[in-house]
Amino acid sequence: MKPIIIKSVSEMIEVSRNIKTSIGFVPTMGFLHEGHLSLVKKAKQETETVIVSIYVNPSQFAPNEDLDKYPRSFERDIQLLAELDVDYVFFPENQEMYPEGYKTWITVEKISRILCGRSRPTHFRGVVTIVAKLMNTVNADYMFMGEKDFQQIVVLEQMIKDLNFKTRIVRCPLIREKDGLAMSSRNKYLSSQQRNDALCLYKSLLMAQEKFNEGFTGSAETIDWMNEFIESYNGVVDYTEIVDPNSLQTISNLHKGCRILVAVKIGKTRLIDNIEIV
Ligand code: PAF
Repeated sequence: MKPIIIKSVSEMIEVSRNIKTSIGFVPTMGFLHEGHLSLVKKAKQETETVIVSIYVNPSQFAPNEDLDKYPRSFERDIQLLAELDVDYVFFPENQEMYPEGYKTWITVEKISRILCGRSRPTHFRGVVTIVAKLMNTVNADYMFMGEKDFQQIVVLEQMIKDLNFKTRIVRCPLIREKDGLAMSSRNKYLSSQQRNDALCLYKSLLMAQEKFNEGFTGSAETIDWMNEFIESYNGVVDYTEIVDPNSLQTISNLHKGCRILVAVKIGKTRLIDNIEIV
């Protein structure tokens, strides 16, 4: 059945406050792919009422980024969500989320400034603020998020803890295309040559895992190998970092459970990926 579409904050608050079951929430920016749908399926399994938001949040894009061309496909998204029996779709306009006179911003210190935060210094302030508003508006008990945006999850968990939100994040695995490319709405920007070049992110991560299996554990040399590999595919490395998965601080030696994260520009498109070393 088609989900009920709600556009106004006040209506969403009223509806969500009257839901007597557990609420599973999947925040999205639309243009849904299998990665998003896997989150919705998990939410359907684990909670009784599922709310999906579709909102391209302007405050998490810097002026030079892709806000204007970010892909949108509302009718198709609703069709996909109907097939999964989603109960509600929250689809607000900018005026609803940032009405005139809006002044409040949430910043998670330090961990918002590393990794993606170095080249996107205002990004997490926008993400954290909108997610706090959304969680509050839909009265979410559980929020389902994919580990593709690994730093986003860690930053949001910190905010939830620090501000005593009741919502708990359910971490869900990153979903890949058959050839290993991490699913992302931004893959749409890639030409067929770039689509092929983009495989360097996952392949470089697999190479790091293989080197680890062979006994190489130095972070610096692993990063050098990965960067060289990525550059051989025309990728421009934004960062390659090997971190503790909880603190996101860099570590000098790989061990099982650590995380490798990469951000690479393929042409004008910035892509991210990560794996856990096992
Ligand atoms: O991961 C995303 O799609 C966005 O950052 C989110 C969580 C929907 C906030 O706009």
